[in-house]
This record gives sequence, structure tokens and C-alpha cells, in this order.
Amino acid sequence: MSKIAICFSFNTNKTSLAAKKIAEEFGPEMVEMVNAEKITPEEFLSYKKYVMGVPTWFDGELPNYWDEFIPALEDLDLKGRKFALFGNGDQKGYPENFVDGIGIMATVLEKCGATLIGYTSTAGYYFEGSKARRGDKFIGLALDFESQGKQINQKIKEWVALLKKEF
Ligand SMILES: Cc1cc2nc3c(=O)[nH]c(=O)nc-3n(C[C@H](O)[C@H](O)[C@H](O)COP(=O)(O)O)c2cc1C
Repeated sequence: MSKIAICFSFNTNKTSLAAKKIAEEFGPEMVEMVNAEKITPEEFLSYKKYVMGVPTWFDGELPNYWDEFIPALEDLDLKGRKFALFGNGDQKGYPENFVDGIGIMATVLEKCGATLIGYTSTAGYYFEGSKARRGDKFIGLALDFESQGKQINQKIKEWVALLKKEF
């Protein structure tokens, strides 16, 4: 099986922590850690399966490193490639824009023909609005270290089990 690229900024704290836990759940032989701050379109296209760490910043926006990669991403043909998105957010602090970054990235990827997998239930989360929401699901995994810190390990375990079936 080809390796899964776990793309995230190596410069983050909580996103990096989550990415490492996700990698452990898959097992090191299944994944490669890819720094989102250094990625080139050529390197990006050398994978077929991706787990992307997309936290939300600036009241409902992507962090700068993802924003800077989006114009290059928009030019890529991603048909036949599978993407699973996880994103850190804070539902108490930013209830109107909870994990919006996941939704923004999902829309870009879908326009490029990508297939999104790893949807999870919104049950147990309390927020007012989220671009990551479709019906009663998030288009990926929402991680809230601020108010659900104790649930992170279990959520990641269950999500990776789902991804192993869907990839
Ligand atoms: C200035 C600032 C703006 C933020 N905006 C949002 C937001 O709009 N929506 C959200 O869900 N979380 C928001 N957050 C919470 C972060 O996404 C959360 O702290 C996350 O864990 C950061 O992950 P990182 O440190 O790995 O980048 C914000 C945090 C800060 C400090």
C-alpha cells in the first residue's frame, strides 16, 4: 500500500501533537510526515492518500502557511486521490466559526476533484456555525484541545480506525 502523507505545519503545538498521535495509530510504516510550510506541488502530487492538519485561525480562516499554498493547490488535478482532514478549533471561544478551516480546505480540494473521507458526527459538540459541517457531520475530525482535551486520544483512535477502512 502506498504511504499516507500526514501534512501539517511542523511549527505548531497542538496540530503537531494530534498529527503524531494519528501517525502512531496508523503505524510508522504506513505514513510519512510532510511539513505543510515547505511542501511543493510536485511533492504533494507524489502521494495518493493524505491526512491534512488544518487548524482555524483569525476568526474563521486558514493559518498563513495553508493560505499561501492554496493558489498552487487550486491548479492541481486531484481526481482519484483521497483526503481526510482534521482540524483544531475552539468551540467555546469561536462558536460561530468552529473549525471553519476544515470546511474551507474541503471546498478547495473538492473543486480539484479530490475525494474526501473520514466524516465524523457533530454530536457532543456545542457551537453556532461551522463551514466544516454538512448535515449532522463534520467533513473530517474536529479536535478541541481547549474544552475537550481528555477526549482527543479516543477521538483520534476511532477516526484512524475509520480511515483504515475508507482509504
Ligand atoms: C487568534 C486566534 C483565533 C482563533 N480563531 C479560531 C476560529 O475562528 N475558530 C476556531 O474553531 N478556533 C479558533 N482558534 C482556536 C485555535 O484553532 C486552537 O487554539 C488550535 O488548537 C490552534 O492549533 P495550532 O496551535 O496547532 O495551530 C483561534 C485561536 C486564536 C489564538
